[in-house]
Amino acid sequence: MKAFALAHPNIALVKYWGKRDFAYNLPGAGSLSLTLGGLSTRTCVEFDAALDADSLQLDGKAVESGGKLKRVSQFLDLVRERAGISQHARVISENDFPTGAGLASSASGFAALALAATTAAGLELSATELSILARRGSGSAARSLFGGYVEMNDGVYAIGEDGTKVATRSAEEASKAAYARQIAPAAHWDLRCVIAVTSAGEKDIGSTEGMVSTQNTSPYYEQWIASVPGDIERAAAAVAARDFAALAEVAEASCLRMHASAMGADPGIIYWNATTVALIHAVRKARAGGLPVFFTIDAGPQVKVFCPAEALDECRALLAGTQGVRQILEAHPGEGARLCGDF
Ligand code: DP6
Repeated sequence: MKAFALAHPNIALVKYWGKRDFAYNLPGAGSLSLTLGGLSTRTCVEFDAALDADSLQLDGKAVESGGKLKRVSQFLDLVRERAGISQHARVISENDFPTGAGLASSASGFAALALAATTAAGLELSATELSILARRGSGSAARSLFGGYVEMNDGVYAIGEDGTKVATRSAEEASKAAYARQIAPAAHWDLRCVIAVTSAGEKDIGSTEGMVSTQNTSPYYEQWIASVPGDIERAAAAVAARDFAALAEVAEASCLRMHASAMGADPGIIYWNATTVALIHAVRKARAGGLPVFFTIDAGPQVKVFCPAEALDECRALLAGTQGVRQILEAHPGEGARLCGDF
């Protein structure tokens, strides 16, 4: 009743921002991402009849109460229900990168948790079923089950329907559910992601809360959602053709439109700080000068800059030379979630 799993975070090139259903955590539109090797979450889950509650240890510290423990416990309820067990679990999770600072730790966290918890509970789920399950924990986690370049479907099924067994559906039916799939393996295109950390603290407004506020109050939300399918098509074509300039254009547009929809909320949500803005300008200026780079930003002030492998040193120097950058992390196309040994 014990298992270990490892998953990498992923960064969306076409963003997920908004939900069509909250209870089942169904996204308002699809998204497209790259799974990031070089940054990892390792999670151990042990179901134990002697426990009278679930326990969570995150990066060496016991999480006694609050939102994080509740979210993990509710996720474990889904696994218990599916496996027909009632034992509580001991969950230990370690990130080798800063948690909660806009580096998508919920993506790698729930992907690793889904794999470790289902394995510990004796379930054998397909990658698609795991992706659907991980989505219930966090939408972006559905993508981290897979390596390389990944597309997430928005799905068309009404509430609950896409929780049924995907394996028993026709391919056409199955493609209507909300889960992710690999569109190109990690080895397809050696893009690098250089992450400029511009603030060390946990973000003020988490992505779930930011999405809820955006869709409830921003007059730009509908237009944002309507813009996503075209962006996914363009991004998927750019990935298939390894067309850096085309991917740069669509990824920056998707990022800025997502943030514009959030800034249009009431009150407006601004995830950026002065260094975030300085980096946006620095990246655009460098690109105009011939350096192949583009940026993307999630629900926080960190800036992720993509470049081809051969431009890595110049890209790194560009970020290191921007005032206010506190730390630089590097990632490369990574593999999907997998079982691992003790850590
Ligand atoms: C800005 O997956 O964290 O990183 O489903 O509510 O857990 P929940 O949201 P989450 O949102 C990620 C938002 C984003 C964009 C993206 O990764 O697509």
